[in-house]
Amino acid sequence: MAALCNSILLLLCFFTASLPFSIQKPTKTPLDNSLSLSFPLTSIPHPNPKPLLSSLSSSTAQPVKRPPTTATSSPPYNYRSAFKYSMALVVSLPIGTPPQTQQMVLDTGSQLSWIQCNKKAPPKKPPPTTSFDPSLSSSFSVLPCNHPICKPRVPDFTLPTSCDQNRLCHYSYFYADGTLAEGNLVREKFTFSSTQSTPPLILGCATDTSDAQGILGMNLGRLSFANQAKISKFSYCTPLRPNHGGAPPSGGFYLGQNPNSRTFQYVNILTFSESQRMPNFDPRAFTLPLVGLRLGAIKLNISAECFRPNAGGVGQTMIDSGSEYTYLVEETYDKVRGEVVRLVGPKLKKGYVYEGVLDMCFDGDAVLIGRQIGDLVFEYEKGVEVVVDKERVLGDVGGGVHCLGIGRSDSLAIPGNIIGNVHQQNMWVEYDLANRRVGFGRADCSRSVQ
Ligand SMILES: *[C@@H]1O[C@H](CO)[C@@H](O)[C@H](O)[C@H]1NC(C)=O
Repeated sequence: MAALCNSILLLLCFFTASLPFSIQKPTKTPLDNSLSLSFPLTSIPHPNPKPLLSSLSSSTAQPVKRPPTTATSSPPYNYRSAFKYSMALVVSLPIGTPPQTQQMVLDTGSQLSWIQCNKKAPPKKPPPTTSFDPSLSSSFSVLPCNHPICKPRVPDFTLPTSCDQNRLCHYSYFYADGTLAEGNLVREKFTFSSTQSTPPLILGCATDTSDAQGILGMNLGRLSFANQAKISKFSYCTPLRPNHGGAPPSGGFYLGQNPNSRTFQYVNILTFSESQRMPNFDPRAFTLPLVGLRLGAIKLNISAECFRPNAGGVGQTMIDSGSEYTYLVEETYDKVRGEVVRLVGPKLKKGYVYEGVLDMCFDGDAVLIGRQIGDLVFEYEKGVEVVVDKERVLGDVGGGVHCLGIGRSDSLAIPGNIIGNVHQQNMWVEYDLANRRVGFGRADCSRSVQ
C-alpha cells in the first residue's frame, strides 16, 4: 500500500519537479513570553475564491545558516484583536507612524507581507480609501536596489526581486492559485500603541490598487511577519461561516500569549534536515504530522506515509490559513471520495464541480446528508484529533448547493496536502514558533475576543 502510494506521489513529483525551493535552518529562539496582542478577525468572501498559498516561484536558493537571535531583543508587545473571516481571514493592523489601519489576509502559507500603497502619480481610478499612504508616515522608507535582499546572488534570497527604473527593489511572484503579487519592497513599522511598535520590517508595497486587502505573511520564512517581528507564537480562531450571502462573522487573533492556551492540544511541526534534498518540499510551510482520516465511524484506509513527504518532498501536509479549502493528493482524495460515494453516493450532484475544485456536492438537506456522512476527523500523532462536526461537514456554496470542502491537490498543481481554513472553524489554532508546535483548542470563535 505504501509503495503504491509512493509511486503515485512520485508521479506527482515528476510533474512538479520544476518548482524551485529553498531550505532554511530552523533557528528559533523563544523571545518575550509575556507578549499578548489580540485583534478581531473577520471572515469575508474574498474576491478571489482560490486559496492563497506560499509562493512556489521562489528561487534557486541554497541552504543558509542564520545567526541565533538574542533573547534580549524582544519588545513587550501587548495587543489583541478580532479578525475577519472567504473566506479569507482578515485582520486589521496599525501600520506606520502615526498608524494607518490596514486590512490584511492572515496567511500562514506565504512569507512576504504586503499592503496596498497609494500611487504618487494621480491614479487612473481612486485607490481604496483603506490603502496606505506612505507620505503620511514618518517611519516609512523604500528599499534601495543595493539592499542584499534585492541581489539575486544572495544565497538565502527567497523572493524574486529586481531593480526597477527608479533604482528601487521590485518584487513580483505568483501564488499557487495564479494570483500575481507585485510592488516595491519597503520598510515600515507596525505600531500597536504609543509604547509598542516593531522595528521597521520589510514589506511589499503593492501599487495595483484593485485588492482591498493586503497579506500578512506568516509562514516559517525568514521574511515572514512573525519572524521579522520576533513573535514567539500567534493564534487565530476562525468563526463559523455564515450561510451564503450572510454578514461576515468575527473571530479572534493573538500575537503572543493566548489566555486560552491551557486547553490546547499540540502536535509537533515536522522539520527536515538541510541535507535532505526534497525538490517539492516547502521548508517554510507548517508541516504537520497527520497520520489518518476518519469519516464517521470509518477509519479510511490511508497509510500515514501518504501524509508525509516522500524522498522527493511530495506529500507533505501543510496547515494554511490562507487556503479556503482542504486539498489532498490524488490517492488520498480518492479514498475520501470513495467513502462518501459509499455513504451517500446516490445523493451526489452528478457532474457538478464547484469552482473547479469541489466535486462532492449535494442538493437538498445538508444537515441530514451531513449526518449520514458523519464527523470528519483529522488524526495526528500522539492521539491528537481535530473533529469537524457532521453538522458542518458540508458547506453552503450558494444556490442551495452544499459541498464537502475537500479538493484534489492537482487541481492546484501542488505536490502536497493542505488543510484549509474551512476545516479550522470554531477552534483556536496556535502556531508556537518557539517550541515548533501547533496547538488546537475547541472554541466559540464569535466570542473569542471581547
Ligand atoms: C487498503 O488500501 C490498499 C492500497 O490502496 C489495498 O491494497 C488494500 O486492499 C486496502 N485494504 C482494505 C481493507 O481495503
